[in-house]
This record gives sequence, C-alpha cells and structure tokens, in this order.
Amino acid sequence: MKRYATIAGTGSYLPETILTNSDLEKMVDTSDEWIRQRTGIVERRIADDDVATSDLSVHASRLAIKNAHIDPIDIEMILVATVTPDTVFPSTACYVQQGIGAKNASAMDISAACAGFLYGLDLANGLIISGQYNTILVVGGEVFNKIVDWKDRNTCVLFGDGAGAAIVQATEEPKGIIASYIGSDGDYADINLLGIPAGGSRMPVTSEAIDNNLNKIQMNGREVFKLGVRLMPEAAQRVLRKADVSVDDIDLLIPHQANLRIIEAVGDRLGVPREKVYVNVDKYGNTSAATVIIALDEAIRQGRAKPGDLVLLVTFGAGLTWGSTLLRL
Ligand code: UT7
Repeated sequence: MKRYATIAGTGSYLPETILTNSDLEKMVDTSDEWIRQRTGIVERRIADDDVATSDLSVHASRLAIKNAHIDPIDIEMILVATVTPDTVFPSTACYVQQGIGAKNASAMDISAACAGFLYGLDLANGLIISGQYNTILVVGGEVFNKIVDWKDRNTCVLFGDGAGAAIVQATEEPKGIIASYIGSDGDYADINLLGIPAGGSRMPVTSEAIDNNLNKIQMNGREVFKLGVRLMPEAAQRVLRKADVSVDDIDLLIPHQANLRIIEAVGDRLGVPREKVYVNVDKYGNTSAATVIIALDEAIRQGRAKPGDLVLLVTFGAGLTWGSTLLRL
C-alpha cells in the first residue's frame, strides 16, 4: 500500500503581550502610518524576558498533540525549526521533548530561517513515506524580540514572537502532503543581506561585537523584498507542476507572513484571488519559522481551511532558503 504523510493535528501559541505600532513610535523614529503602509503590520506579540523558544513551542505542541488525538509517547521524532534556539546546544527540540514528555522521540533542530517549518514538513514527509517513521512532530518557533536591535527602525518594527506545531502522521488515504519542494542558494549566505554576524564560530560574541550590535539581526530589506517576491511564486509553481494541480484548484494560499506587500505580490503573480490568500501579518508581524504553521492552525480553527481543502504553503528566508508544500487537508 502507498503511504502518505498527513497533518493529523495542529496547534499554535502566541505570547499575550501586544506591542503596537504606537508603542514603537515611542521607541524609534517611526510612525504607525509608515509601518502600516510599508508592511501591513499593526501589532506583534512579545514574549516575557524569561520565556524561551521551547516554552512557546511546548504550548503549541501540546495543542497539536491534543488535536491529533495522540499520546506524546507516540511521537517518534521532533523537528524544531528556529533561528532563536534556547541555547546553541542542546537543541531546542530536546527541551521541547522534555516539556511534552515525548520519551520515545529523537529530537533535533532545523536551521533554515523563515523557511524552516516547510523544511521540517519536507523531511517528515520523506521519512514517513519511506516507512521509517509513523508520527513526527514538526514545530516552528521563535522569540525574535531577543535578537532584534530595538534601536534599529529598519528591523525592529517587523518581527514578533510565536510558535506553531503539527503532528505529521502516516496514512494510506491519498491525502496530506501531495507535493513538497525545498531549495536554497548559499550564494546569498551574506549576513548583511539577512542574518546575525556574531555568536557563531565565525565571530564569537565579544564586547566589541555587542557595542556594534553584531549579535543582532542585520537586513537589507529592499533586496530581501525583491528576492521574496521572485522566489515564493517560483517555489509555489514548482509544487503545483509536481502535483499536476491548477492554481484555480487551490482553496487557500498561505504565504510567509513578512510583509503584506510581499504577500499580495505573491498571490497576484500566482493568480490567486485576494480572498483565497491568508493574512495575519497585521496581528503578529513576521514570526519567521513560525508564520506558516501559525497561519495554517488559525485557518483550520476559523474554518477557512476545511477537511478536503487544497492548501498551498510557501515561504522563503535567510540562506537563502525557500520551500513550498501542497496539502490536501
Ligand atoms: O522573513 C524575511 C525577512 N524579511 C523580509 O521579508 C523583509 C523584506 N523587506 C521589507 O519588508 C521592506 O523592504 C521593508 C519593510 C523592510 C522596508 O520597506 P521599503 O519600502 O523597502 O523601504 P526602504 O527600505 O526602501 O526605506 C524607505 C525609507 C528610508 O528612508 P529614506 O532613505 O528614503 O529617507 C528608510 O530609512 O523608509 C525609511 N524607514 C523607515 N521610516 C519610518 C525604514 N524603516 C522605517 C521605519 N519607520 N520603521
């Protein structure tokens, strides 16, 4: 019998504290009008100082486990996509394992920036259809507030904290992940394009690095914008071709939530009408690896994505990395 990997349950968790554009007006030289017009963001969530990525991820994972009607001990592997790990090592996935009591799982992190969750889904799909695993927890979680330079108006208005999780399970029914594609281009692995220079083996954190904010996110927004608008439609078209599905058959498009202008450009280039494009960047900003899974979980809970629907997820991030997944719910 052919095996498929299906999304058996999803969950998401956003910290309660809201940081509005007006709050940011008091912190940097910006305005609510500029942020709304250039990004579509109205507010974002911020985790408390003592909260780490695994804490948000554990909340989201518990909900996914509940919605999938499984026991944590059934989970055989935990993949956590994040660029804000609790610690360099051990992996955030191991803290999540402890937090949810998934005693029988192996656990590791995925470093693919904003594309990380779809990297996780792609891996889970391969491991499940090969017969090696039956139940995998895939998480996208970030606490960006700890890596943002709160004095840099070019970046601090864009990001937020949050986590989403999915239980991916083997099934013999032809549903779940219909087609998946991930890619990367290391020619763009430039920390000035998008990244954090200090904190790794290339540049350890020194007091000089801290003085120059090199332990915080750096980004060339304009270049990243252009790349996102080109790469996401290409990635989405690739999975549609792979699955031999027309764009008109898509019930919901969930693009990476970084900027409303990018989201709308991706939908327009693909020819997906605006009412079929999911948007929550206004409420949460860019939660990096967590955006598409938080959005999918919300869409399911709101009834915007129903059993049987065709949902197209697409994302891109630093690396550069990108990915797209076509799901039959
Ligand atoms: O997950 C992937 C991660 N990142 C992204 O997806 C980000 C992609 N890029 C973007 O979303 C946009 O490029 C930004 C929102 C970051 C910037 O929008 P933009 O329309 O590309 O603006 P810009 O960078 O061309 O800057 C226009 C002006 C500049 O002033 P001057 O040089 O024209 O005087 C900036 O200094 O806007 C200024 N500016 C701001 N003004 C008020 C930049 N940030 C702000 C701000 N408030 N927060």
